[in-house]
Amino acid sequence: MLARDVEARFAALDAFLIEHQGLWRPRPFTHLQLPWEREYPELAQWLRQRTLADAESCHNWPHDLPAPAPFPQLAEQALQLSAVDRLPTRALEPARHRLNVDVPGRKWQQIEAFGAALNFTHTPGHWLDWCAGKGHLGRRLLQPGQQLTCLEHDPALIASGQALSDHHRLPVTHRLQDVMAKVALSPEHTPSPCMPAATCTCACCNWPARPVASNWHWRPAVTTASTPTAIKPYPVPHAHRNYGYRLMTWACR
Ligand SMILES: C[S@@+](CC[C@H](N)C(=O)[O-])C[C@H]1O[C@@H](n2cnc3c(N)ncnc32)[C@H](O)[C@@H]1O
Repeated sequence: MLARDVEARFAALDAFLIEHQGLWRPRPFTHLQLPWEREYPELAQWLRQRTLADAESCHNWPHDLPAPAPFPQLAEQALQLSAVDRLPTRALEPARHRLNVDVPGRKWQQIEAFGAALNFTHTPGHWLDWCAGKGHLGRRLLQPGQQLTCLEHDPALIASGQALSDHHRLPVTHRLQDVMAKVALSPEHTPSPCMPAATCTCACCNWPARPVASNWHWRPAVTTASTPTAIKPYPVPHAHRNYGYRLMTWACR
């Protein structure tokens, strides 16, 4: 897919999500009645009479649900907007001994799939794990001679992550950082050239809007072929909550 097509796709996906945010933004299980139920009473009633087993049986395939409008139309649109080809992959360098200890199986698979789909012409010297949690992704990507900075806003995860990195004797800095905050990281914190990477499903991955990154002069890149293709900044849609993996990288200018 060409960079301009990727940009158009993300723009369409973002517009779709913003238009229908009333449906997905309210946190589940925190309201007795969700605000959108007043607008779509028939759909609300249909969904409410379903059992937990019904819901679980279509957990990964919700698009075919014979639910009342506007569900089918929205599901069809979502399916079209989220259909992407598989990225070409390469054999990933073997993981360091016991690096996956403490990483749930599905997460490790996601991390490995992410790593296998990264293919650079210029090997990054410094990784930035954005919303890193304990930094499992960054540590898996880290190769000899490279460095890693992990940004995370939960102090407990920072502490556990730093302990893991120290245990594996890896050159990792775990920084306590709210990536949404109006705080700018200076280049000396994470020397250029660096390659940000994330496996994250939260809104903080609307990266180009983030002030933290804004003074680094990064250009986002989507790795679609053998080289990261620099494209104009675009908002990464919040909606990559597809339970698969997503791949986003940014290339420094
Ligand atoms: C889905 S987890 C991903 C963790 C990690 N990338 C991985 O694959 O294990 C999202 C992480 O982002 C962190 N996070 C969410 N909002 C954040 C923010 N505004 N600033 C920094 N970290 C944030 C959460 O605490 C959580 O650890």
